[in-house]
Amino acid sequence: MNLYAEGILPVNLRTEYKINPFVDVISPRLSWELTSPVNNQFQSAYQIIVSSSQDLCASSKGDTWDSGKIESSATNQIKYAGKELHSGMRVWWKVRAWDKNGDVGPWSEMAYWEMGLLEKKDWKADWIGLDLRENFTDSEYDLPPTPYLRKNIQLRKEVKSARLYISALGLVEFKINGNKVGDDYFVPGWTDYNERVYYQAYDVTDLIKPGENTLGAHLSYGWYSGYLGYALLVGTSKVRDFYGRTPLMKAQVRIEYTDGSTDYIVSDKDWKGCSSPLIESDMLQGEMYDARKEIAGWDKPGFDDSDWEEVLSSEDSPQREIELYPGNPVRVIDEFTPREIIPSGDKKHIVDLGQNFAGIIRLKVKGNPGDTVTLRYGEMLHPDGRLVTENLRRARATDYYILKGDPNGETWMPTFTFHGFQYVEVSGLDEVSDRTITGLALSSDTKLVGDFDTDSPMLNQLYSNIVWTQFANYIDIPTDCPQRDERLGWTGDAQIYVKSATFNTDVAAFYTKWVRDLNDAQWSNGAYPIYAPMPKTDLATPAIRGTDKYSPGWSEAGIICPYEIYETYGDTEIVKSSWENMVAYMEFLKEKSGGDYVFEEGAFEEISPKGGFGDWLSVGKKTPPDLLATMYYAYCAELMGAMADAIGKKEEAGNYRELFKKIKESMVRHYTDESGKFVTDTLVYGDGSGYVDGQLGFRGHTQTAYANAIYMGLVEGEDKRKAGDWLSDLVAGNDGKLATGFLGFKPLLPALSTTGHIQTAYDLILSTEYPSLGFEVVNGATSIWERWDSYTLDEGFVHNASMNSFSHYAFGSVCEWMFEFMAGIQVVDPGYRSFSINPVIPQKGLSNVSATYHSINGLIESAWEKTGNDLIMDITVPVNTTANICIPGQMDKITINGEGIKTDKFLFVDRRADMTIVKTGSGKYKIKVSDR
Ligand code: BGC
Repeated sequence: MNLYAEGILPVNLRTEYKINPFVDVISPRLSWELTSPVNNQFQSAYQIIVSSSQDLCASSKGDTWDSGKIESSATNQIKYAGKELHSGMRVWWKVRAWDKNGDVGPWSEMAYWEMGLLEKKDWKADWIGLDLRENFTDSEYDLPPTPYLRKNIQLRKEVKSARLYISALGLVEFKINGNKVGDDYFVPGWTDYNERVYYQAYDVTDLIKPGENTLGAHLSYGWYSGYLGYALLVGTSKVRDFYGRTPLMKAQVRIEYTDGSTDYIVSDKDWKGCSSPLIESDMLQGEMYDARKEIAGWDKPGFDDSDWEEVLSSEDSPQREIELYPGNPVRVIDEFTPREIIPSGDKKHIVDLGQNFAGIIRLKVKGNPGDTVTLRYGEMLHPDGRLVTENLRRARATDYYILKGDPNGETWMPTFTFHGFQYVEVSGLDEVSDRTITGLALSSDTKLVGDFDTDSPMLNQLYSNIVWTQFANYIDIPTDCPQRDERLGWTGDAQIYVKSATFNTDVAAFYTKWVRDLNDAQWSNGAYPIYAPMPKTDLATPAIRGTDKYSPGWSEAGIICPYEIYETYGDTEIVKSSWENMVAYMEFLKEKSGGDYVFEEGAFEEISPKGGFGDWLSVGKKTPPDLLATMYYAYCAELMGAMADAIGKKEEAGNYRELFKKIKESMVRHYTDESGKFVTDTLVYGDGSGYVDGQLGFRGHTQTAYANAIYMGLVEGEDKRKAGDWLSDLVAGNDGKLATGFLGFKPLLPALSTTGHIQTAYDLILSTEYPSLGFEVVNGATSIWERWDSYTLDEGFVHNASMNSFSHYAFGSVCEWMFEFMAGIQVVDPGYRSFSINPVIPQKGLSNVSATYHSINGLIESAWEKTGNDLIMDITVPVNTTANICIPGQMDKITINGEGIKTDKFLFVDRRADMTIVKTGSGKYKIKVSDR
């Protein structure tokens, strides 16, 4: 008999959002979820045990920390509060919970975390590398070969455990005795390397053996010294080497022997280096691998490296922090086999992998020494079947493999590059089979937490397109696109999409990393940049393009992203660690508004483009960017108020709320007429030159203006109703179509839905006519496009190729509406401790929606289905949370789990004219509304 059948069990134990990780946070945050067979179950108390060994933990001896019984319902963001932990220490932990009746449940399974290197002085290794920059091969691109570094070591004692700590200025792949350590790509990620660099830690006990061992490293240029962004395209004098010229790595292996002694093997001047067969390697341009130059056994014991070169070694720069990588490493997340192989000329084939994604290929070939396979990558094909590469601009995005002629065949994968593609053009082979090319999708390994399904195949494809575009662009940082010569952490795209992202994968650690990049990139005047990391010149100006400073609607990512992470995961650490940066930005805006709480027309004339990017890629007349800047100023004030409250800054919270009110009032005074309609002084914008699409003219009365005003809470009551009506009129007057760009699209459907125009919102999402996301789907999209009409089946490419990406997640920001309104899952208390289920149900167009969202507090499910006149809802509320379920029907027509609603069975029941709201705790609820 299970003693605890009625009990409560903690599962999914995580430390700093990760399972059994390395961490370098002094007091890491712990979390768990709860399971219980009992409905309305919650945790009344918990106890955490942290022990210095697995055995002690198993016998419940918390020698490092025994929290004792803590009366609290918290299950996450709980800071370790035991003995001080030191570098390299591994501790084991478990937790048990007391249920709602005060009965204690069983201990969870054990988990652990291990401390990384907490202080700079823990590092005994030097930065080492090999300068191969003289030998570049190509006139258009400077693409030098990459170095191998190696060292042999002798181990005379029995090894108990071994750890590798590895960092690079550039990119590194590390090997022990010929085996790649870990399965991560692009280690250690992109940072402002002048400020900080990350390292990764690995348990390498299984790779080390007694006797001779070989440590080998392969270095590449990466973000540190490779090509970045559109520097080549815009003609910047410096096109690569934004942080340094020669990639360096720092490696430290700590070995613990069974006799209790310890040894360190570190990178230093005793290592040897040599040019590798990877004779070109760049993230944007691609790689060239000459298999004839392979050096057999270089990474294994027994190799003679006497003719290898001395490495260069250098010490640390004192101001550079070296920290454990806080994000999710990039990994292969999926594989694609060819859908079609299309012959396309002499020794040329195009392989269609069926999905637009970011990543690399695995090439399997057989041939003669010196045969060269050229691999070009594209997202689309021209109508005549040629690969589209025009939209890659100056990214060469080409890999070359030169065969060594192995009669058994040879296999190759690029190491330090990735491309955004669906099609691969393979040249140089007579035959291409479905085994020649396999697509390997790379992404920061953020765990899937969402699922979304409806009875519309178009919408299901759209959802898949959104998720794939997120995978393709969440590669160490959130990028705009993964294919052309850009791939920058554009802040506007990131802020518009961040909430959508939270519904698809667990992005807590990913954003912990990027928000730090953003803070590191903040300008000295307090403005956040337009992308981060932001390479800077010695004069602290933008290094890729001099005018890349800040823009309203983009810079606010510095406030919006921490806010969304706080709200989604209850994370107050990200708020605390960003607080000063966020205040500095609010001060910048205050100064910029001259104390008037409004940005009047022309307020941002000094930036490029004038006014900033505004409602980028909208259709028709432009919404004044200064109006949008004012709205964003108000919105940020509101979010700052909420975040100030969350971290106990009561006074600041009050001040920001007051500021929000003042900006709102000033905005209404300056930008609306007596009827409340948005207006603007178009004269100030003249002929619009210098502004984005300024020639189209400006208008205050736009979909984007009302959508944002409603979404950001800038209109209330009767004004909100009016704004909603104007918004819906504007859609109707535009042939039932949207006209919004980056800033207007995200709030459009939420604004329509909260002002009673539910069917209009559904009509827009179900539309397959230009401009709509459905239009992309019916034109064959497997990802989200940069433009509403990047391509049509009939007309092909109607746009300037230089800005026509097929993998841009910004318009995927509708995903937020899909989860929050179609499925109705909306957070009420941070971390979804309480939430509402309030789906909006269309009159026509769709008859069922089913979504799941795995929150930090457990799995939430919301599904509805119309059957005849009835509506069935299936809801799951996780243990220790509460949900307000809004049921569209009168109480006497509703059954829950087969019974009429008994008010004493729920936390409360609110009867309204056309809706019944039931507040309940955990459980599964099948709800039927009859005769709607
Ligand atoms: C990027 C966008 C970005 C924009 C700034 C583009 O080139 O791809 O997504 O936000 O520049 O407007």
